[in-house]
Amino acid sequence: MSICKRPVTEFPISPGVAEMDLMAPGTFDFEGAFWWICRVFVRQGHREAGMGSELLRRLLERCGSHCAVVAPGGYGAPMKRQKRFYKRAGFGESGREGLLIYPRNKIIELVAEVDPGEA
Ligand SMILES: CC(C)(COP(=O)(O)OP(=O)(O)OC[C@H]1O[C@@H](n2cnc3c(N)ncnc32)[C@H](O)[C@@H]1OP(=O)(O)O)[C@@H](O)C(=O)NCCC(=O)NCCS
Repeated sequence: MSICKRPVTEFPISPGVAEMDLMAPGTFDFEGAFWWICRVFVRQGHREAGMGSELLRRLLERCGSHCAVVAPGGYGAPMKRQKRFYKRAGFGESGREGLLIYPRNKIIELVAEVDPGEA
C-alpha cells in the first residue's frame, strides 16, 4: 500500500493508492482550507479485504486540523457502494450536492488517538 499527498503521474504499481490535495478556503464555498480526497484505488484482486478502508484511515490521520471532502461516483463504480465505503469511514453529507465531508472535529479526535503530541 502507499499513501501520497501529491498527484502521481503514472498508474500506481502498488496494490492500493490514496491521494489528497489541500484546497484553498472558499472552494465549493467551504469556509476554510480542506483536504480533497482525489483517489482511493485498490486493484482488482485485492479488493474487499479492508485495504481501501485502511488507506482512507491513513489519509484521514494526516489531515491535521482540516476537514476532508470527497465526491463519490468516479471510476464508473456504483454510487451507492462508494457512498457506503466513505460513510462507513465516518463521512457524512456536506450540504453540497455530491460531496461528502469528514468533519474537522472527527479528524482532531482521530489525530489525538494516533499521536497526541502532534494534534
Ligand atoms: C472503493 C475501493 C477503494 C474499496 O476498496 P476495498 O479494499 O475493496 O474496500 P474495503 O474492503 O475496505 O471495503 C469494502 C467496501 O468498499 C466498497 N467497494 C468495494 N468494491 C467496490 C467497487 N468495485 N466499487 C465501489 N465500491 C466498492 C464497498 O462499500 C464495500 O463494502 P460493501 O461490500 O458493503 O459494499 C475499491 O473498490 C476501488 O478501488 N474501487 C474502484 C475505485 C473507486 O471506486 N474508488 C473510490 C472513489 S474515489
